[in-house]
Amino acid sequence: MKNVKKLITGLLLLVLTLSLAACNSSSKTSADDKGIQKMTIKISHVVAENTPKQKGALAMKDVIEKESDGKIKVQVYPNSQLFGDKDEYQNLVANNAQFIIPDMSKLVGNDPGFNIPAMPFLFESDQAADDFWDGEKGKEIFKRLEKDGVLGLSMWPNGAKHITNDKKPITKPEDLQGMKIRTQGGQLLESLYKTLGAGSTSIPFGELYTALQQGTVDGEENTYSNIESKKFDEVQKYTTDIGHTRVDYALLTNTKFWGGLNDETKAIIQKGIEKGTKVARKSAAQLNKDAEKKMEDRGKTKVTKLTSEQKDAFKKALEPVYKEWAKKIGPDIIKDAESRK
Ligand code: LMR
Repeated sequence: MKNVKKLITGLLLLVLTLSLAACNSSSKTSADDKGIQKMTIKISHVVAENTPKQKGALAMKDVIEKESDGKIKVQVYPNSQLFGDKDEYQNLVANNAQFIIPDMSKLVGNDPGFNIPAMPFLFESDQAADDFWDGEKGKEIFKRLEKDGVLGLSMWPNGAKHITNDKKPITKPEDLQGMKIRTQGGQLLESLYKTLGAGSTSIPFGELYTALQQGTVDGEENTYSNIESKKFDEVQKYTTDIGHTRVDYALLTNTKFWGGLNDETKAIIQKGIEKGTKVARKSAAQLNKDAEKKMEDRGKTKVTKLTSEQKDAFKKALEPVYKEWAKKIGPDIIKDAESRK
């Protein structure tokens, strides 16, 4: 009898020990766990350090690491160090990165709504773009990525794009004739340059300096902070301040990662996202201004500022492109965007 009792006690102890061990080794990233989940988050992007994207990502890191008492570590990879334009989206889907922040022009293959920043002369300010993406239609476009297992969390602006080239000053639409321009990708930008008599091709951002230096393309369009921080002005004699299209970003995560977060952990990450968004939005315009000044001081590229009459000539030339793409993107979306001045 004594032996049977001993055996039962032993078995009970064994069961208890095994279930405790199972609890301990159960995934720290299970949404059912209580307490802050220990983890390392990777944020990957393609631009340099002195940009709104990096500033926003670092602000996210700061808040998340502090609020989690260091239980959550955030690693930020700028300059395509981890993933570049070609593979960052699929690596987000595969949860090899937990956040990416692509230029929306790189998402146009997923949904035509992401062509909004490429619509010529649509938004007049960062504020108008922020308001659109915070609104009902912007959110609707983000939601369409869910079919890929991707969540659009917020829009981070960079700003208006300008055209650089190594051939001649551009002051009127005809000046672009015969040039080959690198774009961020998508049929809208392709059609925009075709309408102006130029050829175009998309090249990953990480390969752009070399492509410009070697003359693979004559020019490109970008924001001042992207041009300056990557020193494109060193290899482009002319810059035209035109602001015809924009660089706006989508902060994206994947549903696998997001669905594995418990409420406490998610709240901390959400705080980080809010701060990152605020910092990126607040810093974008100033960074562009500073970059423009630095380029002037370096004196490698000659900056031509178009007058409003000169801009109107481009607007007129690009009207057919605007109209065609307004239909493709959807009249209700365009109406909303146009109301955000
Ligand atoms: C570019 O490829 O020129 C930009 O979209 C890069 C970026 O992310 O700002």
